[in-house]
Amino acid sequence: MSLELGVNIDHIATLRQARGTIYPNLLDAVTLVEAAGADAITIHLREDRRHIQDADVDAIRKHCQRRLNLELAATDEMVAIACGVMPDDACIVPEKREELTTEGGLDVIGQFDRIQQSTQTLRDAGIRVSLFIEPDVEQIKRVLDVGASVIELHTGTYANATGDAKKYEFERIVGATAFADNLGIQVNAGHGLDYDNTAIIAAIPQIKELNIGHAMIARAVFVGIKQATEEMLAIMEKARL
Ligand code: PXP
Repeated sequence: MSLELGVNIDHIATLRQARGTIYPNLLDAVTLVEAAGADAITIHLREDRRHIQDADVDAIRKHCQRRLNLELAATDEMVAIACGVMPDDACIVPEKREELTTEGGLDVIGQFDRIQQSTQTLRDAGIRVSLFIEPDVEQIKRVLDVGASVIELHTGTYANATGDAKKYEFERIVGATAFADNLGIQVNAGHGLDYDNTAIIAAIPQIKELNIGHAMIARAVFVGIKQATEEMLAIMEKARL
């Protein structure tokens, strides 16, 4: 099974918002990332609009040639925006205003009704829904019940762990991937992946797509976004040989 790459370009917008300029241009980034061979563009429209703006979502939707994956909180506002923009994929994520980045996965069990309602609305509009969750079997058991067919496993805990804890977190991801795959759920993964820790995750055969942002944008500062994308794709390809 081939492994796809979604490049999260949020932090190109972070750089732009830091000065309120019109550069760096996100559409130029989309062109370069796609030319490098990425399979999808991923953006997160946060409730506080700290990086991606509403107008960016519309412009990127019109410009991008590959899949557009919109990350969003399960709120009425975000679901309505998604239904208007029609990304190919919507990845529902938990969101807290004060967090630096998405911390932890969705609580599909505790927030069942809200996630089910959002999933239904998005699916009825024709958008494929993915749920960003921890590699936790109990959460995965409820995914099909809310109507989603795709999950993105949160790799952040694995990425931040060291020593035995890292091995443990890796095994959790392997186990959760196999469990979800057996239920017929598509498994993607992302968060905290970089040029050192991605290969081992990419080698898990059932994983279909990785969504990677911060490390790639940081690399792009030195080598450009096209080369940063090509380097990550090469790591992923080698892991699947
Ligand atoms: N996947 C999801 C669901 C996310 O929320 C994020 C961060 O926006 C990413 C992947 C990318 O994480 P990172 O920037 O750490 O690569």
